Amino acid sequence: MQENFPEHVAIIMDGNGRWATSLGKKRTYGHYIGSLIVNKITESAAKIGIKYLTLYAFSTENWRRPKSEVMFLMALLKTQLGKKEALFRENDIQFRVIGDFSVFDDRIVAMINGLMSKTKNNKGMRLTLALNYGGKHEIARAAKRLCEDVKNGNIKICDIDEALFKNYLYTFDMPDVDLLIRTGGEKRVSNFLLWQSSYAEFVFFDKYWPEFTEDDLVLAIDEFKRRKRRFGGL
Ligand code: IPE
Ligand code: IPE
Ligand code: MG
Repeated sequence: MQENFPEHVAIIMDGNGRWATSLGKKRTYGHYIGSLIVNKITESAAKIGIKYLTLYAFSTENWRRPKSEVMFLMALLKTQLGKKEALFRENDIQFRVIGDFSVFDDRIVAMINGLMSKTKNNKGMRLTLALNYGGKHEIARAAKRLCEDVKNGNIKICDIDEALFKNYLYTFDMPDVDLLIRTGGEKRVSNFLLWQSSYAEFVFFDKYWPEFTEDDLVLAIDEFKRRKRRFGGL
């Protein structure tokens, strides 16, 4: 592994709706093209040698959108999950989901479980989709599960530290985020990977997600390599 190369890259794929609107098309068209970019960037990231790629696809707050848009996104998710097997096989990708996907329709839940189990022994990049994911929800959920273990006598309060707490997060077996990319011009985290991004380097793109390319990913990695990470030290 090259020095200064990000092991874990996370992307807030933002701007689908504005991109489509700017072309005089419906927001949903942006989501459709955005879903094709997901496949392209997944393949690029695996080829470039990224070990963990985590993509923000649907937040716990995205339910606030008009019902028609949410329904479109669910239908798109179903179609896209149905087409992923070959991509994962050909690129040796291990697939995971973070977030509470149990609330999605049964077919989607079954597809996610099927893909995770089929790809669990793949040795290449780990692709994690954040679905119905929120950083605050994840931390509250971890606290709840931790309390259960204290109540059952499995752990003692005095043993709780950052390393132990991490075991209760969705990302228990993943390294923290090195590079966090956001497309679409906004400069905020929007409740994504709050715990895991504590020392992430942020790279923002004004361009919308449907316009994002492999060259942009390489550009962000080059920018990351130039950053001096101090983690609070000197
Ligand atoms: C990101 O694009 C995709 C999702 C949040 C599902 P947006 O839908 O947020 O697009 P903009 O930001 O409104 O343009
Ligand atoms: C963040 O984008 C969520 C995803 C990309 C899935 P949003 O469009 O939901 O974020 P805000 O509302 O602009 O903060
Ligand atoms: Mg947005």
